Amino acid sequence: MTTYTSSWIRAYTNIALIKYWGKADEALKLPKNNSISLTLDSFYTDTHVQFDSRFTADTLTIDGQGQDQNGAALKKAKIILDLVREIAQVDYNAKITSLNYVPTAAGLASSASGLAALAGAASNALELNLSDTDLSRLARRGSGSASRSIFGGFVEWEKGDSDVTSVAKPLDDANWDIGMLFIILDSRQKAVSSSEGMSRTVATSVFYPAWLETIELDLADMRQAIKDQSIQQVGEIAERNALKMHGTNLGANPPFTYWSAESLRAMEHVRQLRQEGYNVYFTMDAGPNVKLIGTYQELKEIKEHLSKYYDPAQLILAQPGPGLTVLPEHVHADITPN
Ligand code: DP6
Repeated sequence: MTTYTSSWIRAYTNIALIKYWGKADEALKLPKNNSISLTLDSFYTDTHVQFDSRFTADTLTIDGQGQDQNGAALKKAKIILDLVREIAQVDYNAKITSLNYVPTAAGLASSASGLAALAGAASNALELNLSDTDLSRLARRGSGSASRSIFGGFVEWEKGDSDVTSVAKPLDDANWDIGMLFIILDSRQKAVSSSEGMSRTVATSVFYPAWLETIELDLADMRQAIKDQSIQQVGEIAERNALKMHGTNLGANPPFTYWSAESLRAMEHVRQLRQEGYNVYFTMDAGPNVKLIGTYQELKEIKEHLSKYYDPAQLILAQPGPGLTVLPEHVHADITPN
């Protein structure tokens, strides 16, 4: 009997300020455009992996729930397991235990933290000693946005033109006053997954060419805004980039949107807050939730203000978070498989 066991690895979620929307290569998950994100401290996934010669299949448990052998979560996980098995020349099945501190599939990028944590844990179990760049490449194969969750602060994922060159890199440690306030409007699974949404948009949207034509400008403006530590610039550019991304979905065939009536109401709150003098902006991903961008100080006040309209559990404040973290042994000691 041979067994390889990882430490518990934590990866934090990230929210894109310039969105990844569209793949140039579906199998390798090479994107059509670079993207820029902020890694956040409030949502994360802790993962433990064990490879064992006695296991008869790969298994995945998320928050105590065994996942379907043919389900989407295990399918993505197997891509990463197969890659590390190939590098390590090991063919044992794996038991993955994951704890998700993210409302799953609510457009809150649970796949980003989930697949980044798995890349870290699987390679840790087999003692591969991968660099952060290697881990970013590996995480990307599970889910594109996961490539960015290897690093903390502001991160840019270089689209590259091959498996080797498509990796994320840290851009700025975000050691200044910026935060996000999540308005959780619906934490159910989304109807159109991000993968399906982006592939339909690339194939059919009459607006997609305009997305690609203007993306370099948005990226350059965002890099400058981050360098200048300007909340107003970061917020304005992120907001217009998100609206543009969501616009491409309306031009697809069949058209679709991730917005709900509640999303529009939340955007209206943001516009109202701006009129009242707050320096606050929003972004949205492949789900109805709205994320506000501002200084942490102002977002604290705004959270107070918005508690008139939302349940406290719907409002979650976040600050910049770190990259992949190896947790000390006592964390989750009670549930660590042996
Ligand atoms: C809207 O990374 O979930 O959140 O690569 O198909 O797994 P796959 O997609 P995923 O897409 C995220 C899309 C987005 C924008 C972003 O995070 O950049």
